[in-house]
Amino acid sequence: MTFKRHTVTAALPYANGPVHIGHLAGCYLPADIYVRYLRLKGEDVKFICGSDEHGVPITIKAKKEGITPQQVVDKYHKLMGDAFKDFGISFDIYSRTSSKTHHETASEFFKKLYDKGVFKEEVTEQYFDEKANQFLADRYIVGTCPKCGNENAYGDQCEKCGSTLNATDLINPKSTLSGEKPVLKKTKNWFLPLDKMQPQIEAYIDSHKEWKSNVFGQCKSWLNAGLQPRAMTRDLDWGVKVPVDGADGKVLYVWFDAPIGYISATKELFMQHNDGINTLSPEGRAGEGWEKYWRDKESRLVHFIGKDNIVFHCIIFPAMLMAEGSFIVPDNVPANEFLNLEGDKISTSRNWAVWLHEYLLEFKDKQDTLRYTLCSNAPETKDNDFTWKDFQAKNNNELVAILGNFVNRTLVLTHKYYNGKVPETLEYTKSDILLLEEISKFPDKIAASIEQYRFREALSELMNLARSGNKYLADNEPWTLIKTDEKRVQTIMNISLQIAANLAVVMEPFLPFTSKRLGGMLNLNPSLKWNDAKRTDLLLAGHQINAASLLFEKIEDEAISAQVQKLADSKKANEAAGKAIEPSKAETSFDDFSKMDIRVGTILEAERVPKTDKLLKLLIDTGFDTRTVVSGIAAYYKPEDIIGQQVSILVNLAPRKIKGIESKGMILMAENSAGELSFVSPLKPNVNNGSGIK
Ligand code: MF3
Ligand code: ZN
Repeated sequence: MTFKRHTVTAALPYANGPVHIGHLAGCYLPADIYVRYLRLKGEDVKFICGSDEHGVPITIKAKKEGITPQQVVDKYHKLMGDAFKDFGISFDIYSRTSSKTHHETASEFFKKLYDKGVFKEEVTEQYFDEKANQFLADRYIVGTCPKCGNENAYGDQCEKCGSTLNATDLINPKSTLSGEKPVLKKTKNWFLPLDKMQPQIEAYIDSHKEWKSNVFGQCKSWLNAGLQPRAMTRDLDWGVKVPVDGADGKVLYVWFDAPIGYISATKELFMQHNDGINTLSPEGRAGEGWEKYWRDKESRLVHFIGKDNIVFHCIIFPAMLMAEGSFIVPDNVPANEFLNLEGDKISTSRNWAVWLHEYLLEFKDKQDTLRYTLCSNAPETKDNDFTWKDFQAKNNNELVAILGNFVNRTLVLTHKYYNGKVPETLEYTKSDILLLEEISKFPDKIAASIEQYRFREALSELMNLARSGNKYLADNEPWTLIKTDEKRVQTIMNISLQIAANLAVVMEPFLPFTSKRLGGMLNLNPSLKWNDAKRTDLLLAGHQINAASLLFEKIEDEAISAQVQKLADSKKANEAAGKAIEPSKAETSFDDFSKMDIRVGTILEAERVPKTDKLLKLLIDTGFDTRTVVSGIAAYYKPEDIIGQQVSILVNLAPRKIKGIESKGMILMAENSAGELSFVSPLKPNVNNGSGIK
């Protein structure tokens, strides 16, 4: 089946945090490469995305930041949209699910299923937090996953094993609002009868054996486990209101409304451009405008997502679309696995991430370096790791040393020998002819990989083209020949320029910023298409090229170690934060507590214990005696600063020998989350030495 047009979507990210490299590598970059390629092929394509602004991730974030959900989504929608734009992610529209069009579209969709009698309306017992006085769905509830034992599974999904869950499946459920054990309370919800739809969905999945094996395999395992009815409404107040009677205080399940966001965004795109008549023709054929992209069987719907979204895009959304009846269903759902960072799972809450907006502050104008690294390391078939060292190596050893070097030598020599005018080809040698043949095959090779969603492979073919160019220059040494055979040099430089021009075209999906710069330097016709790169005469003899500058710069060790240090700091802060919430110790009795004799004392003398970093030897006046205590506080207090300081001291601790000094008692210290120590001292001046602390 060939298609007339393409509707390509990238998962709508939750508007609850900035965008990091994991987002880019997993979903937005491959989607962008694919779409840019289609556009270059001259295909009719719309690239759709926007912010997912409903659901519990948003309300939880609002609570954490002490602002309203609307303020959360306003803040992050802008930040995310800007980050995508900065990295050249070329959406035709970046919309949002709080928009009026979306609320209307999602309501209508629900209403249509409701009117068709698709939903099973059922009163069930759902978890309720009595303290917070609200129902607990999705991420408001955590517990142990019944499938894999992960103790932090959410009410709708276990992120560890990927299972979709119902909150009532969780073992030991706990409210994330109050930490309390929830109670069960009756409430009415509307369920999509996935169980009844199983045969239809199974046939659909089975007709897509060409899907990536990770995607197809996951779908089959859900189908084998047997699909269950799934509630499409929630007892929450943030979201699209359920548009039927008797549904006060209920909203659509975020995974019902969000994918409909793809449709709403497409509508908005056409509303913006004001170029669509959004009606079905009398014969029931798809009309013009947005509908063509969603209702015409000759439109191909492709969803780019991360692996945690597979069930929603491959089973639940298609089931919704089938039940609705007037839409096409996804033709492919190329999902990626996850990208880790320096060996650890990327995490927003632990600040273990490379944020796109921060990257650009440190690596100005180096968007393509990140695009290149993330694509060549994309987690296409398994989880993968991003390391700063690898980032540096890819930039220095590949972008600079191969691609940049070839282009630079070609342009500089052309300026030097021919004042920037493309020389004529006079006579091809046999090896020239072989090379030209090889070069003309690259666009098809790269295209074949892209069409199978093998972007890493496509990118490495692109680099092979640059390698061929480099080798050609090295083998032919025009810089030596110029003294003896100037005519031959003309041909060599002409061929090298053709390769550079082809590179400028086929690199566009991967490295759009560099492609534009190179196109500018070559003074290349900007309307060249993908298939033009099969030709080896894109630059005619006599064509004037522009000034050359380096395409890529070397990244020095200092820049990399600064990034590594930043991550190390973040790890340290996390470890400290982890300490801060140390759970309380087991209960103790008053009797046990009162056995400890804690007094107020004053430091009379203080000195470093020789040959140690941490220890100070203190002489303490306890009110009833004067004694020596060795204390591990040298990193926090200088001896001369603490003479006369009142402290708390445990006086009946059995004496111990520390570094040969008898230490009698222990000074009490408060330890903060970073592990730093501070004296615990009386706040009033009239507490004399020897006063008891109880
Ligand atoms: N917001 C979801 C996530 O970040 C993805 C939603 S995709 C859509 O995991 F299809 F629902 F839009
Ligand atoms: Zn699990």
